[in-house]
Amino acid sequence: MLLGVLCILVVPQVFSEAPPAPPQDIQVDNWLLRWSPDPDHGNVTYTAQYSSFDSCVWTDVPYCVHTSLNSCNVSSIKARSEYGCVMLRVQAERHGQKSPSVQACSTHGHLCTPDFILTASPGSLTVHLSRNTTFLREHADHAKYRVYYGKKGEALQGYKDGPASVTIDELQEGQRYCTRVQYLYFTHTEGLPTCTQCALIPESDSRRTVTIVSLVLVGVLLLVFPVIAYFLLFQRWRLKRWLQPLYTFREHLLVPLPEPLLPIPSSTEEHYDVITSMFPVELRE
Ligand SMILES: *[C@@H]1O[C@H](CO)[C@@H](O)[C@H](O)[C@H]1NC(C)=O
Ligand SMILES: *[C@@H]1O[C@H](CO)[C@@H](O)[C@H](O)[C@H]1NC(C)=O
Repeated sequence: MLLGVLCILVVPQVFSEAPPAPPQDIQVDNWLLRWSPDPDHGNVTYTAQYSSFDSCVWTDVPYCVHTSLNSCNVSSIKARSEYGCVMLRVQAERHGQKSPSVQACSTHGHLCTPDFILTASPGSLTVHLSRNTTFLREHADHAKYRVYYGKKGEALQGYKDGPASVTIDELQEGQRYCTRVQYLYFTHTEGLPTCTQCALIPESDSRRTVTIVSLVLVGVLLLVFPVIAYFLLFQRWRLKRWLQPLYTFREHLLVPLPEPLLPIPSSTEEHYDVITSMFPVELRE
């Protein structure tokens, strides 16, 4: 009883003070940061923060604090990013309750964000990356790319590093896979990652043929089986009539053969074939 009363009192309290949903789809394009607002709730404000090269400290982006809009011009940090790459993140807030921060991605390549083209072939995905970018030239041998990948809808947990284009093998055909790329400096990721791109892994020709043939077979079976079952169950008499031979015996053939024509069993070694069936042959009168 007491527990019930407590629940009734406490649950709505907790519910009304729940932090807002984190912002979604945070993208930067030419120093303009955008995100999708929470469609179900008003009274939510957003704060953008940046973290400079080599520092783990997050600082509020000037003019992008507690804004109720769903975009912010972050060009004021452009000067700060000239000496290194910056990271950006956005946090939602309502009545003092803060959502987790979500990192932004970049829709276009930039000094600190790679540019890539994705191509898919049966069983693999290739991320085409240039060896000749400002970031790689400046950091020489210490910089490379990190390509994150995973099935669409799942976290991109797998990754592969490389100085240029990267191919990911042994992927399931017919599945959609997504990738995101970020620069790597020594062992740290640097700058904004690219926004996620996805591609469908096509099926190889032989596999496609097998799939089509099995689909056709299943289709034919599904179509033919009910027809056969219908005739066996409900139209048996019709089947019998169709299966009857069309030939009708002529009258004189039905008359029993005269006695002397019948072979008389004897004790000789000769063998006789026993007539078990007769095939109709056209007889000319
Ligand atoms: C962002 O602000 C800068 C300087 O205030 C301005 O030059 C630039 O055009 C703005 N960008 C956008 C997309 O509004
Ligand atoms: C690398 O890119 C720069 C500028 O984009 C260009 O001037 C240079 O010729 C390129 N180098 C090679 C080896 O392609």
